[in-house]
Amino acid sequence: MAISFFSKGKKAMISRCRDDYATKMRLKYAPYYHAMESQTGTNVRLQGRDMIMLSSNDYLGLSFHPKVIEAGRAAMLKWGTSTTGARTSNGSRGFHVELEERLAAFLGREACHIHVAGYLSCLSSVASFAQKGDHILADKNIHSCLWDGIRLSMATVERFSHNSPDDLREVLTAVSPDATKMLVVEGVYSMEGHIARLPELAEIAEENGCFTVLDDAHGFGVLGRKGRGTVDHFGLNDKVDIICGSLSKSLASTGGFVAASREIIEYLRTHSKQTIFSAAISPSQAACAQTSLEIMQQEPQHLERLWANTRRYRAMLKSLGLDTWESETPAVPIVLGSKERVYPFWKALMEKGVFTVMSIAPAVPAGKDLIRTAISAMHTEEQFERIADAMAYAVKRL
Ligand SMILES: Cc1ncc(COP(=O)(O)O)c(C=O)c1O
Repeated sequence: MAISFFSKGKKAMISRCRDDYATKMRLKYAPYYHAMESQTGTNVRLQGRDMIMLSSNDYLGLSFHPKVIEAGRAAMLKWGTSTTGARTSNGSRGFHVELEERLAAFLGREACHIHVAGYLSCLSSVASFAQKGDHILADKNIHSCLWDGIRLSMATVERFSHNSPDDLREVLTAVSPDATKMLVVEGVYSMEGHIARLPELAEIAEENGCFTVLDDAHGFGVLGRKGRGTVDHFGLNDKVDIICGSLSKSLASTGGFVAASREIIEYLRTHSKQTIFSAAISPSQAACAQTSLEIMQQEPQHLERLWANTRRYRAMLKSLGLDTWESETPAVPIVLGSKERVYPFWKALMEKGVFTVMSIAPAVPAGKDLIRTAISAMHTEEQFERIADAMAYAVKRL
């Protein structure tokens, strides 16, 4: 009797996997999890064909920079492949502290803490500070890691319309002035390519006493002086309490960071479960991120080329009549509005050797189904010509 009871519960779980509609559709159309056979810069090889990578987050193109590669190799030789432990126990090394100090100094903050993923840093920036009974004001379009942080915190969440200071003000009228409040926004929204309206949002946060967390995964390396990010772009360093982000985009590594005042970071080090119970970032990851950070400060040409490429690409899409959701950054969506239009467009680009990623509702708001593309400083003249041909071909297929 007991056995059949347990096997019934297990069967329900297995059926959930077997019958899942989203998994069936993914396996049928195979739009994700493409395993590339090789890569050099923005050239990838997939199923024996050379393709242009048009959707990575390697904004500055540093993932194949000789100095970054050499730094990763040297760190592995010196420190081994892994620290095999959490920072709180056996995993902390001098290179972690050095990277944190360099990131903090670059961002004009007193301190910084790094995690093995940007996902964990951003989640931790919310979950370590907000508690049950607090109120979190969140832009409707924030990244999944921030939503997970909100859920873990058990605080009450109030959503406001994407990038709308007016709606934030409106939503705040229903929250007690005495409540403990946190504002959660991104610097650059990666699906939309929008820059946060930070001057207005930060002013409202200040008027209402909101602790402000800004996820700058896509603004770091892209905006501000030498790529210091969205907060620096607006000159608002004293208005944002926490800047968190990723090492896996402009810094061409893997991992994440949280930068803030010393007391905020020391509190995070005590309370972030994502730090206490998870291994530290590896020697080579830390070395690659640190060397990329040095290159950002010493070689401005990468940031200049990124923006020149971005302007050129946006003009190309505009000339074809494509909707780029008013993107202002190198993250450029092509909004097609429904999955019936997105799929053939994506397939046509694949046919022509251009690799992009589909994003359909609920990952994006209904009616905004899109192809996510992102520009790198590494895209070449010749690649832009091939991308232009492929886009023109895909437009004809709509
Ligand atoms: C806005 C935003 N925050 C955080 C992350 C997570 O960063 P990572 O890929 O380093 O885990 C991403 C990655 O896609 C992101 O787009």
